[in-house]
Amino acid sequence: MADLIEALRAVVGEAHVLVDADLRAPYETDWTRRFTGQASCVVRPASTEEVAGVVRACAAAGAPMVVQGGNTGLVGAGVPRGDEVLVSLTRLRDLEPVDRMAAQVTVGAGVTLEALQNHARAAGLDFGVDLASRSSATVGGLVATNAGGIRVLRYGSMRTQLAGLEAVLPDGTVVSRLTGLTKDNTGYDLTQLLAGSEGTLGIVTRVRLHLVPLLPARAVALVGLADTDAALELLSVARDRLASLSAAEIFYADGLRLVRDHAGLPAPFAEEFPACVVLECTDRTDPTDAILDTLAECEAVGDATVASDAAGRARLWAFRETHTEAISAAGIPVKLDVSVPLGELPSLVRELPGTIAAVAPGARPILFGHVNEGNIHVNVLDVGDAYSEVTDAVLRLVAAHRGSISSEHGIGRAKVAWLGLSRSPEEVAAMRRIKDGLDPAGLLNPGVLLPCETGSSG
Ligand code: MLT
Ligand code: ZN
Repeated sequence: MADLIEALRAVVGEAHVLVDADLRAPYETDWTRRFTGQASCVVRPASTEEVAGVVRACAAAGAPMVVQGGNTGLVGAGVPRGDEVLVSLTRLRDLEPVDRMAAQVTVGAGVTLEALQNHARAAGLDFGVDLASRSSATVGGLVATNAGGIRVLRYGSMRTQLAGLEAVLPDGTVVSRLTGLTKDNTGYDLTQLLAGSEGTLGIVTRVRLHLVPLLPARAVALVGLADTDAALELLSVARDRLASLSAAEIFYADGLRLVRDHAGLPAPFAEEFPACVVLECTDRTDPTDAILDTLAECEAVGDATVASDAAGRARLWAFRETHTEAISAAGIPVKLDVSVPLGELPSLVRELPGTIAAVAPGARPILFGHVNEGNIHVNVLDVGDAYSEVTDAVLRLVAAHRGSISSEHGIGRAKVAWLGLSRSPEEVAAMRRIKDGLDPAGLLNPGVLLPCETGSSG
């Protein structure tokens, strides 16, 4: 190990190889506090060349690595299991000038989503992905997990924004595709292969991204509804009538109560509704009237409040965006992230509480998410020691509804054992062959996405 530490110091400089337990600690536990492990050291490269040097040194020593961005992941993919070299990418913070003609920009993997958004907006453009952890989540992590967030409805997930990337493969080879060609049929699309690969095939170091028009006018509606069926009815009317619709988010009465208690927020309506939907429209001119007309047209609407000024919009978004933080303040939940075909969503939401209560009596399920994609975040508090039982029961119910066990957070370490509920044995075997082809020694993010114990990985 001493030789490897020396080799890493030679690549990144002594100050950026953290060996002391105190210095490593912030990197070793994930945001949820559920996943934690000791790294042999934390190494902080500042360029693609340094990342390649780090990977070559680790490969020569046979040392496993775990890759970390802003450490906002929710499935344990970015923290060590034990003894890996933790490669932190937060120093890769280059923001190249925005290419206005192409509406593209190249940025380092360690740039936060918020810094990217500000950079694009300063050049009169915008970035299509947005999510609540924008101030910490980094571009490399967003690519590695194919992050979704609140604007998938309008702009698609992270995959859709990619015009190319640069990455270091597990043997230290650099592959670079940053010209931003929108048409390029010259073989396998390595950019898309690495997107969503959760750091198991390569380390993304730079990314070429498509940007979207910066739309100056924005309005948000918070709508009280009877149930998920009513939310789907509203969604359908909104999609038909509002070309400017950019977000449609759902949450329920128990989540709203938790958020209000945590953040000291007032009740949004005089009456309590079982379900709430946040709609956001973004346009060149104020979309408020179009939203009001749409709400008036939809019989499912129980009550609604609309805001177009920045403070009013933030006040309405807070009811949805504070969910993760409020849940985390109440305990360490089982955090699941599932999607089902839209028509199945109402029955899934109805069946979840009973399914969970059967394996963890007294548990508190809090559901919220991205209604247009049938994507519900199933957070379950007070499960005692039934983490695995709750996970198993929920994911089997989702599979019975023809859904996905990971809609946007990834498989990570948390859901490896259940991958077979969403992917066939043939698909998993093909993934394994790709992994073994690029990383035959299994050194990159071992135990993430695919199990260590089969094949050669790990
Ligand atoms: C969200 O949509 O707020 C995120 O995916 C975070 C979460 O599930 O906690
Ligand atoms: Zn989400």
